[in-house]
Amino acid sequence: MCGISAYIGKKDAAGVVLECLKKLEYRGYDSWGIVALRGSTGSSPGSSFSVIKRIGKIGGVNSSYLKEAIGEDSRIAIGHTRWATHGGVTEQNAHPHFDCKKQFAVAHNGIIENYQELKEGLLAKGHIFSSQTDTEIIPHLIEEAATTAKDFPEAVREASKLLKGKSAFVAVSASLSQIAVVRKGSPLIIGVNEGDNSEFYVASDINAFLEYTNKVMYLDDNELAVIDGGVKFFSISTGNEVAKRVVQIDWHPGTAHKGSYNHFLIKEIMEQKDTLAKAINQDDVKILTVAELIKSAFGTFFVGCGTAGKVCMAGEYLFSKIARKHVNSVVASEFSNYQHYLTNKTLMVAISQSGETADVLEAIDTAKSKGVKVISLLNVFGSTMMRVSDDFFMVNAGAERAVVSTKATTAQLAVLTLLAYATAGKLQEGKLLLINASAAVNDMLNPRYDEHIRKLAGLLAVRKETFIIGRGLNYPIALEAAIKLQETCYMHAQGFAGGELKHGPLALIEEGTPCIAIVANDETKSDIISNAMEVKSRGGFIIGISPQNNEVFDYWLRVPDAGNASPIVNIIPVQILAYHLAVLKGCDPDYPRNLAKSVTVK
Ligand code: F6R
Repeated sequence: MCGISAYIGKKDAAGVVLECLKKLEYRGYDSWGIVALRGSTGSSPGSSFSVIKRIGKIGGVNSSYLKEAIGEDSRIAIGHTRWATHGGVTEQNAHPHFDCKKQFAVAHNGIIENYQELKEGLLAKGHIFSSQTDTEIIPHLIEEAATTAKDFPEAVREASKLLKGKSAFVAVSASLSQIAVVRKGSPLIIGVNEGDNSEFYVASDINAFLEYTNKVMYLDDNELAVIDGGVKFFSISTGNEVAKRVVQIDWHPGTAHKGSYNHFLIKEIMEQKDTLAKAINQDDVKILTVAELIKSAFGTFFVGCGTAGKVCMAGEYLFSKIARKHVNSVVASEFSNYQHYLTNKTLMVAISQSGETADVLEAIDTAKSKGVKVISLLNVFGSTMMRVSDDFFMVNAGAERAVVSTKATTAQLAVLTLLAYATAGKLQEGKLLLINASAAVNDMLNPRYDEHIRKLAGLLAVRKETFIIGRGLNYPIALEAAIKLQETCYMHAQGFAGGELKHGPLALIEEGTPCIAIVANDETKSDIISNAMEVKSRGGFIIGISPQNNEVFDYWLRVPDAGNASPIVNIIPVQILAYHLAVLKGCDPDYPRNLAKSVTVK
């Protein structure tokens, strides 16, 4: 979580950092801050910092507001958009942070696990802190190291050596035209435009600066980069210089504008008219190769978090049903419990929209330490997961800006379905199924459908809770549906396997309690209808998601009959419902409270 951006070059640095941070807002949106080097317009080094820190989102901030606060143009700036971990959401806690004499400024992403111990040491030496963050120890550590280090980069390197836990930060000195960039487990990428007007961008993800340059240099873990007129990389532990090359990125995330929509969420839901077709446009040879790996692996683990974790679970059902192949789905944060079953014949399929989720990266580390081969399903090119995996698939959903995942989810489901068919030796059958599902989704997503669901949202907006039931392929989708309702409109929503209700949760059903029944036209149909009946008999209000209407439904959301692609089509009406509930309840559909899109802390 948290987005970092920095710039050094001939442009107005604070303005560039502002625009880059706007693209990183999905990583955290509690508060933001920018520090520019005053006096850094000419060739002489700057002498002090101009600072702006504000609570709230950076998205709506314009350059004239920034200029008024920051003052004259500068050539060097660093900035941050925050998702609070240590310390509440206040301007004081917003980054960048400074040392006692305001010589150094730091913007940081991650968690410093030993910060209390380090802070005690600094306090004992007389350092004065002005925030409750773990980050603030970094500028103070640099200040301390600067008393003996030969130069600023060396002081930053000494300070970084002391930090435990996964983090990344950028640091500037008020008296030098230099940026120090440190990566220790959290992402930071450098964009370059070399030549007469050389300029450098630093960001937590390449999307932030892709509109300025598509040439990047990757910083690896435990490395320090020092940027001034050029860039040099060093190992943090040895101080030795590390050779790097410039990589050209020929990938674009697609448009990241709301267009005619009020929110990214509804725009991205509607984009599923196209994204499914893009997701299944995969290289046959690669799909078949990975299918062979799954067939021959001695244990396959699908690993992800949150929504991606539910996709993994759906994968378990898809592989069982389509390929008659057992795979394990495991929530990434629990993966270490399975390490005793891992060998060099095991396969891991890591599923992640961002490719930066800390829990998944840690699971990959665990897997790799046992010689496991790792294949990732990703939506963000150039992400850490892409670089640490043995191979990867892009699910091609395009930039997903709303924190609530929608089009990336269905794209992941589509690629997994394709893989299951390929594993069954029926790739073409799978493709046909998904092409038909994609066309059916295109038809389904029309204004009348949206209006029908908006009306349902009007009925549900007054309710405090909703239950969702599904069976078979659609049991994981019931769980995913609950996540959608929780994060958009803060409703207590819970998903269950239909058969589980009578083992406890049925006691919660009262007159009018909403229950969404996901009823696929498959072997689970009659059982899930019976479960819906059980709820209705206790006063429940049944919302049926199904290709056919049924007398048990009080409200019917029609979906196409998509066969084994039913998980893909069945989640879409819930996504739309979640969107309308958010709007009706005055919640921000794009930025749910307390969440961030890229969860880079454990
Ligand atoms: C929910 C949602 C999250 C993510 C989870 C993993 O709508 O988006 O639950 O699925 O944080 O993120 P990625 O897929 O980036 O690893």
